[in-house]
Amino acid sequence: MAIVTMKEILQDARRRGIALGAFNAANYETACAIVQAAELEESPVILQVYSRMFGNGKAEALGGLLIRLAEKCPQKVALHLDHGENLEQVRNALEWGYTSVMLDGSRLPFDENVALTKQAATLAHQAKATCEGEIGHVAMADETELTDPEEARKFAELTGVDALAVSIGTVHGYYKAEPKLDIGRCREIGQALPNMPLVLHGGTGTPISEVQKVIPLGIAKINVATEFQHCFLKAVQADLEAAAGKFIPIDKFMDAPTAACVEHLRKLIRAFALKE
Ligand code: 13P
Repeated sequence: MAIVTMKEILQDARRRGIALGAFNAANYETACAIVQAAELEESPVILQVYSRMFGNGKAEALGGLLIRLAEKCPQKVALHLDHGENLEQVRNALEWGYTSVMLDGSRLPFDENVALTKQAATLAHQAKATCEGEIGHVAMADETELTDPEEARKFAELTGVDALAVSIGTVHGYYKAEPKLDIGRCREIGQALPNMPLVLHGGTGTPISEVQKVIPLGIAKINVATEFQHCFLKAVQADLEAAAGKFIPIDKFMDAPTAACVEHLRKLIRAFALKE
């Protein structure tokens, strides 16, 4: 199956009132787990790479690997730059074959966020790729700013983004207290933008019962990074302890942590498709 743009799979998800998982790959094993989970669940998926890996040079070679994995997967797979910090990262992603980019201007004043995101969307569209922006701010070890529905409508119109990340009560990383999503706010945003796939960042630790309330209101992409990558690391740690110093070739050793991630992701994919 060809690697596709995010727009192609997200518009369909929004029409159907379901959401797709967008999972952050950081190495070969986490990437394989994402693609295998999508294949087993017969679902499209978004493979995304965090902006830090564009800053430290890892995203280029990893991108080549991800493209190969995506092309071999029988399901549709989009390859996405997550939380792009600037236009250089956007240009690099597009040059390296990523089919989708996010420009995260959510900490900027409205007009500056619009201007930068619009440039990213134009670059993406010139490359036949798609673009995600963020309005309001989902906390990343800072303060959350909830999305105003009218501002979201204006932002989408002015920037031409294909998917819009909104802030309705989630935060990035683990929660200190259980979150409650602002369902009414999400409904208003969904009504203001009836055809726009909305994106929920900060999937980690957000109760599935809360997440499932906002999917029919327009949330079509759900980002999960921390809990998925931690699942991998915890499995590595447990297996290393079990090996008690005995050498195991790395390729064999990694099979079990990868399988643990596949199971974790399959559950999320099913829940986001409202199958269970
Ligand atoms: P979590 O790390 O909270 O799952 O958030 C991931 C995310 O939103 C990536 O953009």
